[in-house]
Amino acid sequence: SMSEQERAFQARIDDGIRIEPKDWMPEAYRKTLIRQISQHAHSEIVGQLPEGNWVTRAPTLKRKSILLAKIQDEAGHGLYLYSAAETLGVSRDELLQALHSGKAKYSSIFNYPTLSWADMGAIGWLVDGSAIINQIPLCRCSYGPYARAMIRVCKEESFHARQGYDIMLALCNGTPEQKAMAQDALNRWWWPSLMMFGPSDAHSVNSAQSSQWRIKLFSNDELRQRMVDQTVPQAEFLGLTIPDPDLKWNEERGHYDFGEIDWQEFHDVLKGNGPCNRERLRTRVKAWDDGAWFREALVAHADKAAAKTQE
Ligand code: 3HC
Repeated sequence: SMSEQERAFQARIDDGIRIEPKDWMPEAYRKTLIRQISQHAHSEIVGQLPEGNWVTRAPTLKRKSILLAKIQDEAGHGLYLYSAAETLGVSRDELLQALHSGKAKYSSIFNYPTLSWADMGAIGWLVDGSAIINQIPLCRCSYGPYARAMIRVCKEESFHARQGYDIMLALCNGTPEQKAMAQDALNRWWWPSLMMFGPSDAHSVNSAQSSQWRIKLFSNDELRQRMVDQTVPQAEFLGLTIPDPDLKWNEERGHYDFGEIDWQEFHDVLKGNGPCNRERLRTRVKAWDDGAWFREALVAHADKAAAKTQE
């Protein structure tokens, strides 16, 4: 049963009052926020890697500048999110240690390979599109620093989604080979994008508590349905076919029905056995190790500056 303090905390949340870092909070609230915000931060950081693969092969200077800007935005999102997590009393070093040791989760989606330029389009359109659907409600979540960080992140995500759709549109208006490339990318990214929203509501262990605390305003399945409803007309406009024979408008529900997700694949990726899990982790750890000299130089410089002011 709830203590007096917990009851007062829940009442503030129910009244729509934001929780701030110095406010009292239940340890479990702190823990679940650290879990979600750090997973989110890691996703932004690891999410740079699939696209990094195409920077040197972008088809035009303009496309290359856009892609670079987008990848830099993701680094920025990761940094805001680590800062938001730090307000809960965890250090960035601890969080990175958990990522590098393979202990921390990050979004399943970034464990798939980017095989063609069309994948840059599909990622922007589907992956960033899904990220926005998931993150717009987070702008209104109960924890102040997380909610505020999400405002700018969502604005930037909307630019990312548009640039992705623009790539798809250019390919679909191009040669038959280009259109086939776009279709192939949609075929490969569709199902993994639906998996981004997490397990079905029936299997989502954290949902009930996170909803009560207003960390989650909509369920995994509600947001996944929103993504399907929003994306099907966009695919039709491109003249592409969504790779789901069970996809069908349901007049009664006012939503699209869609096929069953391959949950075995989802669990395999979460366990570290997706197509690129090992490669992604190896690349991150190497980047961290290669940057050691720079972190050491920064500390040495700060020490020197501190010694000087003491003289
Ligand atoms: N990939 C990896 N792990 C996932 C996952 C996915 N797609 N979906 C769920 N999980 C994990 C959960 O983290 C949880 O694991 P844990 O208990 O060990 O932490 C477990 O599966 C059970 O799922 P639940 O539904 O119970 O978990 P949540 O209540 O946390 O809901 C979520 C999952 C909807 C992803 C929620 O955490 C969330 O909204 N997170 C914030 C958004 C986010 O992290 N997005 C990352 C991808 S988008 C992105 O990075 C932007 C791009 O521009 C780079």
